[in-house]
Amino acid sequence: MSDFLLALKLIHVLGAAVLFGTGLGIAFFMWMAHRTRDPAAIAHTARIVVIADAVFTATAVIMQPLSGVLLARAMNHSLAEPWIAASLVLYGVIGLCWLPVVWIQIKLRDLAAEAARTSSDLPARYYELFRIWFWLGWPAFLGVIAIFALMIFRPALW
Ligand code: HEM
Repeated sequence: MSDFLLALKLIHVLGAAVLFGTGLGIAFFMWMAHRTRDPAAIAHTARIVVIADAVFTATAVIMQPLSGVLLARAMNHSLAEPWIAASLVLYGVIGLCWLPVVWIQIKLRDLAAEAARTSSDLPARYYELFRIWFWLGWPAFLGVIAIFALMIFRPALW
């Protein structure tokens, strides 16, 4: 494999690490903050989480298919090969889960900040949105693991 290809693969694998690691980290810190039921702690964590998603996740979300498609071209893989096609579909599904999650995190941050400012309890809307956030996170998390497996095993699916 040429040095160019290896460099491209390095970028791709680093992107995968950022995507997975930031996602898992964000989910863990949001969950731990939520467990405190303390509006100020939740608002503070959600503020950082929103920034982390915008800086790290969003960059990796764009870089991943880009580096992936370049890698596929350079290695003479067709995008129609089952493991790549399945990854692209899964990637789309993950994106559809992630976009509302970004919006929900902003809402959770604002609702918690408002509760902290007025020294009141977290509103029912907060808990409603948190539940949706939680259940959208699982398919996205498992989907990324499935893509890791597809990239590594490269199965002939059909
Ligand atoms: C979305 C479109 C994607 C495309 C088109 C794509 C394409 C590729 C290609 C062509 C390779 C090189 C395979 C080879 O060595 O023959 C590769 C490797 C790899 N990809 Fe992707 N990829 C994509 C997304 C992802 C995602 C989302 C992840 C994980 C989050 C990921 C993780 C990896 C890993 C870990 C490898 C290295 C596998 C190995 O060397 O055994 N890829 N990818």
